[in-house]
Amino acid sequence: MVEETKLSVSDFMYPLFLLEGKGKKTEVDSMPGIYRLSIDLMLKEIEACMNLGINAFDVFPVVDEKHKDKMASISYEEEFFYNQALKKIKETFPEACIMTDVAMDPYSTDGHDGIVDENGNILNDETLDVLGNMALTQAEMGADIIGPSDMMDGRVEFIRDVLDDNEFENTSIMSYTAKYASAFYGPFRDALDSAPKSGDKKTYQMNPANQREAIIEADLDEEEGADFLMVKPALAYLDVIKLLNDNYDLPIAAYNVSGEYAMIKAAGQKGWLDPQAAMMESLLSIKRAGANVILTYFAKEAAQVLKANK
Ligand code: PBG
Repeated sequence: MVEETKLSVSDFMYPLFLLEGKGKKTEVDSMPGIYRLSIDLMLKEIEACMNLGINAFDVFPVVDEKHKDKMASISYEEEFFYNQALKKIKETFPEACIMTDVAMDPYSTDGHDGIVDENGNILNDETLDVLGNMALTQAEMGADIIGPSDMMDGRVEFIRDVLDDNEFENTSIMSYTAKYASAFYGPFRDALDSAPKSGDKKTYQMNPANQREAIIEADLDEEEGADFLMVKPALAYLDVIKLLNDNYDLPIAAYNVSGEYAMIKAAGQKGWLDPQAAMMESLLSIKRAGANVILTYFAKEAAQVLKANK
């Protein structure tokens, strides 16, 4: 009766890693229990998740080196396997909520989220065109939520304009509003083979020391037309989740990232803590801090626990 916070399977969004081809499944070494899947197997996985009540998915592509270039030009080709997969998923499960990723890093020979010049600088404004093209193709494929994870300034307004000009007024944008330059993304970069080839992401991702800056970013995103504000990572930034939830009426999302998943899994494998209890406590804490949407690699496992406890 007096419990203030309750987790529900409808809080979760499940990130998935897509492989090119058919019949392919490889485990991510640093994320036990998480697999890169080709589209045929991903459709089966989505069906299994939907049977558990998970209705929202965020799909990331694993892009072979041969497809990469400096401008991420393959990212907005309709025939590219990621875009075709989005279309297939939406056709097969029209009732599922499909989020996409907008950033150059999986497609870029530089491994950065934006265009890199000859001096190693990230070109914010020039990158917006590429991001707009990606977002438009993804919307055409049927994506419900566009997820710009690139942290270039002005991208929410730019993408919103491109979508509206092409009659995708109903496609939402979940802005990665306060995305910190974090060490907790390591396993994700292994999964996608998308680590920066040189330098780091500190010129566009936020400094972990800063909380007030999240307010500046959130003001901009709200003004530019974001439909959700996201904080990332989640566990080390619960104060930022609370700050945004206290100050904005938009839904707040939190990304419980790959490193946060890996830590619990690794300690669990060593028998150093109870991984299932630690998983449920982490997710509950993210919700308690104020997140309405939790992107988490634990989605399927936590859904099974919630179902068993019903
Ligand atoms: C890149 C992107 C990253 C994640 C989602 N999109 C990594 C990065 O910024 O280097 C991280 C997700 C995770 O660690 O689970 N655009």
